[in-house]
Amino acid sequence: MKMWSGRFRQALDPEFELWQRSFQFDRRLLKYELQASAAHAKALKSAGILSADELINILDGLQKIADDSAVSQSSLQDDDAEDVHHFVEKQLVARIGELGYKLHSGRSRNEQIATDLRLFVRAAIDQLRAELAEVCAALIDSAEQAGSAAMPAFTHTQHAEPVLVAHWLLAYVEMFWRDADRLADCRKRVNVCPLGSGAVAGATLPIDRAAIAAELEFDAPTANSIDATADRDFALEFVNALSLCALHLSRWAEEMIVFSSQEFAFLRLPEAYSTGSSAMPQKKNPDLPELVRGKCGRIIGNATALMITMKGLPLAYNKDLQETQQPLFDAADAVIGMLPLVAGFVKAVEFDYPRMNEAASTGFMNAWAAATYLVQRGVPSRLAHELIGKAVKLAIKKNCELQDLTLAELQALSPAFDESFYERLNLSSVLAIHDVPGGTAPARVRQGIASAKKKIEALREEIHAHA
Ligand code: ARG
Repeated sequence: MKMWSGRFRQALDPEFELWQRSFQFDRRLLKYELQASAAHAKALKSAGILSADELINILDGLQKIADDSAVSQSSLQDDDAEDVHHFVEKQLVARIGELGYKLHSGRSRNEQIATDLRLFVRAAIDQLRAELAEVCAALIDSAEQAGSAAMPAFTHTQHAEPVLVAHWLLAYVEMFWRDADRLADCRKRVNVCPLGSGAVAGATLPIDRAAIAAELEFDAPTANSIDATADRDFALEFVNALSLCALHLSRWAEEMIVFSSQEFAFLRLPEAYSTGSSAMPQKKNPDLPELVRGKCGRIIGNATALMITMKGLPLAYNKDLQETQQPLFDAADAVIGMLPLVAGFVKAVEFDYPRMNEAASTGFMNAWAAATYLVQRGVPSRLAHELIGKAVKLAIKKNCELQDLTLAELQALSPAFDESFYERLNLSSVLAIHDVPGGTAPARVRQGIASAKKKIEALREEIHAHA
């Protein structure tokens, strides 16, 4: 039986009937639909609509649907179900008879779908935060293993200054940690319960909304029935948070790809996460980071799709809202699916530290340190910059590095140079002068590793306590 055929004189156009359904994608919400339905059934009992026996029968029936779907996916085949809400009603009636129809008393699918989606997003957030913690943990391990190895840091994709490899890896820890934090913040606004909002104006029966919210571990019932059934900003916020996370992942992926190229050769691609070419026998291709980079486009596309679907919709529920489900699922699946692979890749990738160190020692990466040397000897910064620029020009002409210029050549530029200049130019001195919180001096990076570890430990503990 349909959920709404009473007032219709004509049957639906069969093609339209199939086309407007959502069951092919919203069946994945079954678990949440069953949980929310059980909570609603209990509220119906408290409201005097169901007897104690009826409640037991309904809860039993809902449990059986859950058990069957856990055992076999084929129990989710239903050629008539319009959506997951209709499916559960049909299944319940098939198991417990007409009593099953009582479950829908005082509720609307508009509040049900809003609730199921909130439960879905909440679970996805918890899983994503756990996965992000593991990616961060793998990056921190890798930073520890890198020890004192250095590499070039780039600005404008040009050699800028040397940094510790560990410092570079910790930059990604910060980004992914913020992504996890953003999701936690989003969770606060996700975790309110629409049940009892009815179709738009509020439930028509005295439903104890606080009890339902508590039963489903929501922080509170939603405050306004129109808003609760009409808005999807929790989903938009979530997918936008995913877009930022994917964007960070895509930047990491891009660096993995570029640094694995023969021109950089800073790292060796792990064979377990690479593929070959069917044509060129020598190839080992960075498919994992390439797909991560590529999926980022899809995820941002999903966020855009959601924004545009919602834009200009009048309050309250409109069937357009059904179209918010697939971009939401697709974005969640994409990020949930790639984070464990990224963690695996981070653990497996091998860096060529000697080569990275070598690259960090050449190409005038000590030029700012050289200018700082002059500044510390009283030369005004702008003049020091100019002087070292001239020294660089001379070195380019002689095809050498700054430290290869003779003291006579340097003193011809300024009497402020003396022998001590050369010590200040070696790689370890250059690294050491960046001795501020958040800088790349080795002691600062050790602090960075320690505090990153603390943050991730706290995140892991919080996730553990939740589970
Ligand atoms: N499948 C619908 C959706 O995803 C459920 C809500 C249907 N409500 C309605 N009034 N037709 O939005």
